[in-house]
Amino acid sequence: MDEPQRLGDFLLRRGISRRAFMKFCTAMASAMAMPPSFAKSMAKNLESAKRESVIYLSFQECTGCAESLTRSHSPTLETLIFDFISLDYQDTLMAAAGRAAERAKEEAIKRAGPGGYLVVVDGSVPLGAGGAYSASGGKTSLQILGDTIENAAAVICVGTCSSFGGIPYADPNPTDARSVSQLMEAGKVPSKPVINVSGCPPIPVVIAGTLAHYLTFGRIPELDHLNRPKPFFGETIHDRCYRRPYYEEGKFAQAFDDEGARSGWCLYELGCKGPITYNACATTKWNGGTSFPVESGHGCLGCSEPGFWDGGSFYKPLSAGMLGDPGTLGAAAAAGAAVGAGAAWAHRRRNARAKEEG
Ligand code: SF4
Ligand code: SF4
Ligand code: F3S
Repeated sequence: MDEPQRLGDFLLRRGISRRAFMKFCTAMASAMAMPPSFAKSMAKNLESAKRESVIYLSFQECTGCAESLTRSHSPTLETLIFDFISLDYQDTLMAAAGRAAERAKEEAIKRAGPGGYLVVVDGSVPLGAGGAYSASGGKTSLQILGDTIENAAAVICVGTCSSFGGIPYADPNPTDARSVSQLMEAGKVPSKPVINVSGCPPIPVVIAGTLAHYLTFGRIPELDHLNRPKPFFGETIHDRCYRRPYYEEGKFAQAFDDEGARSGWCLYELGCKGPITYNACATTKWNGGTSFPVESGHGCLGCSEPGFWDGGSFYKPLSAGMLGDPGTLGAAAAAGAAVGAGAAWAHRRRNARAKEEG
């Protein structure tokens, strides 16, 4: 039986009730910080959204991004959105291999026509050794990326590796890895609209939400200065962290097993990078809304920011310039570090005064 071409019909056939669909739209509207009325128009547009052809390319990556998607709590509407899109090529998940897989990709691109398909990329692209570090079907990753995105409507970079280089890009970057945006800026591949859904790995709900936004409005969402969708990356982890009141009170855990940690105090002094990290973990959380790193007792590592592997110790309090390429995150990092350092300093002063007083 052919799959329905409209999302509303598709969900109906999968047994998704109108009530569950509305709940999903309301949750998405809230995650995107939109007013409740937005959920209604989203539902209306999404119901009649057409199947979108998507080609998913994997380059220098650890498969964590794909794992994050496929191992997400299921079955949910998020995963059904992925089922609904026409995932015409994903070399880890698809049954076809070798020439048959490459043929499927070429046919999907031809069928969709110019501007008729999206390309999702995870992993960075190596330029070293003529691209020999990552090749498939006799083509380097650079060639594959360039050929595939030539007629794409947009490129969605899933994960920090494709968005900003990630682990392969970390010093000393032995493969001369590049992010998709860097390759476009250098004119090595055709320039296309890029959406960076960063994170190591990225949050499945955020990827689904970005796709849902595209399906709903037929255009990409508003982006920040690093091309991340603002509805999900508009605030820092710190902005929405439930431990924030302790931060404001100057109550900081000093060790992972001390009284402060057990009482749920702020993890700033244990290296939390929440003040300079833009992502939706504190609101959407992970694993079906169960928890997120800070809630499980570990500071945020800053995994959705450029250069987080090289930025400094994960377990040292923030200091200026710890995260980010010079000129991109510098100002935000400096501001976050200054705010955090101010709170921590005030806390130490209070402790010192208390000791002096007796
Ligand atoms: Fe793996 Fe993280 Fe890179 Fe995704 S972003 S491929 S999880 S290293
Ligand atoms: Fe939460 Fe970290 Fe900010 Fe503390 S520093 S309030 S633990 S995000
Ligand atoms: Fe990453 Fe920080 Fe979220 S480490 S998973 S952005 S809490």
